[in-house]
Amino acid sequence: MRIPHSDVDVPTDLYVGGEWSPAGDGGRLETTNPATGEPITEVAAATADDVDRAVAAAREAFSAWRDTDPDERGRIVRRIGELVREHREELAAIESLDQGKPLSQAKSDMGGAARYFEYYAGAADKLEGTSVPVGPDQIDFTVREPYGVSAQITPWNFPGNLFARGVAPALVAGNTAVVKPAEQTPLSSLKLAELCAEAGVPDGVVNVVNGFGDPAGAALSSHEGVDTITFTGSVPTGQAIMKQAADTVTPVTLELGGKNPALVFPDADLDEAATWIDRAIFTNAGQVCSAADRAIVHESVYDEMVERLVARAEDYDLGPGAEDLDMGPLASAEQYEKVTSYIETGVEEGATLAAGGNALDREGYFVEPTVFTDVDNDMRIAQEEIFGPVLTVIPFETEAEAFEIANDVDYGLTSGIFTSDVRRAHRFARDVQAGNVYVNKWFGDTNQTPFGGYKHSGIGREKGLEALDSYLQTKNVAINLAEGESDSLPGA
Ligand code: NAI
Ligand code: MG
Repeated sequence: MRIPHSDVDVPTDLYVGGEWSPAGDGGRLETTNPATGEPITEVAAATADDVDRAVAAAREAFSAWRDTDPDERGRIVRRIGELVREHREELAAIESLDQGKPLSQAKSDMGGAARYFEYYAGAADKLEGTSVPVGPDQIDFTVREPYGVSAQITPWNFPGNLFARGVAPALVAGNTAVVKPAEQTPLSSLKLAELCAEAGVPDGVVNVVNGFGDPAGAALSSHEGVDTITFTGSVPTGQAIMKQAADTVTPVTLELGGKNPALVFPDADLDEAATWIDRAIFTNAGQVCSAADRAIVHESVYDEMVERLVARAEDYDLGPGAEDLDMGPLASAEQYEKVTSYIETGVEEGATLAAGGNALDREGYFVEPTVFTDVDNDMRIAQEEIFGPVLTVIPFETEAEAFEIANDVDYGLTSGIFTSDVRRAHRFARDVQAGNVYVNKWFGDTNQTPFGGYKHSGIGREKGLEALDSYLQTKNVAINLAEGESDSLPGA
């Protein structure tokens, strides 16, 4: 289909075995523009049989891809990165239309997507094993081998960027991939599949099966032919996938969101802290797993901080992604319902609505940047992931109390502290139960740094060289040099 008011074309079928094909039953799903609620187009909606076809294609392509010289694999993946850069404006326009985010944020996502391919491409010929010194009579070494078929189930908040985050390391490590994008935002993944083909990725190495969680997602995550699963999304869906994966003994990498604390101490630069927190909660309309959801602020600077945060929230201009204002709509009608219902919950729980709190009186799924003050950490709005532009501000008296509040949630993805006391910053980094810690900034993780959750926020790590661990399994090889009998026994 052609993106309105542009010359950008996006494929709308399933991409399986290097070919575009409709769903077996002809089924299609509508993807909407969240700025208007109007449909953009229909894409094929995969059935379980379509997922079978895609997994079969990925299995068939696996051995040749695994055995492709690693430097050649690296060159192909680097070429995907180059094409993503060349098509960055187009990809951003598609993403912004389908997902709702302001164009400049979509461009940033696509720059990040290109970066994943570039970053991992260089690792393709450096995935070395080790040699183990077990004594003169045995040569012992490890080899790092791909699993086989990698299932990638992605969400709707950073669709194109997360396609790259998973597919790039999977391919570099020698796996093939079947991607199931979220039903709300399939278009950028389809465009990326086209660019993969143009980059010279062999048929079947990357497959895309748009469709709903049920049947397409569930068929993929329970498939016998899948060798490793990477999922980003909600805790309940992550738990369901992990249970299914138990039946086929398939490893899972799960990135399940957060309820992340941002601590503000009186010795911080309050203007800087407010600017970071504002960006950290309102970017992508708060639909960010690493958002700063809870500002935990010392009582002596509480009023000053609230004043700054409210002023910033009230300064936002909202509009469709293409207008590239400060904030777009929420990505879907369901998310709009969820966020507005949490705002009602916050009011019912007795928190003070200090800024925003309303949906905009216009078409589309727009909700104002919202700040709740006088929040108690036991409230649902402080414990549950809202995934919208809703900041909760919680006061504290002592450092110990602040750290306790920071950790008193089921989640543990990102965390941040604003302070000029280097010891306090390090104490926080030591004590916080979170996979990522930011000091005097937010969104400090890059393509090069490991990223992932403690507690219910997930299992395994994305990004950085550590992500390759999700796509490589270790084989140990022991070679006897001694002649005659040996005394080796199991467990020795
Ligand atoms: P979800 O976790 O259900 O959806 C994510 C992906 O999983 C989509 O591709 C979906 O089709 C697929 N899926 C759904 N059910 C499945 C199943 N049984 N088996 C396999 N795949 C399945 O998330 P949803 O319902 O769209 O959003 C609900 C909440 O999840 C959000 O409000 C937010 O709190 C959280 N979320 C967190 C994200 C993160 O970045 N960690 C991203 C998206 C949502
Ligand atoms: Mg959409």
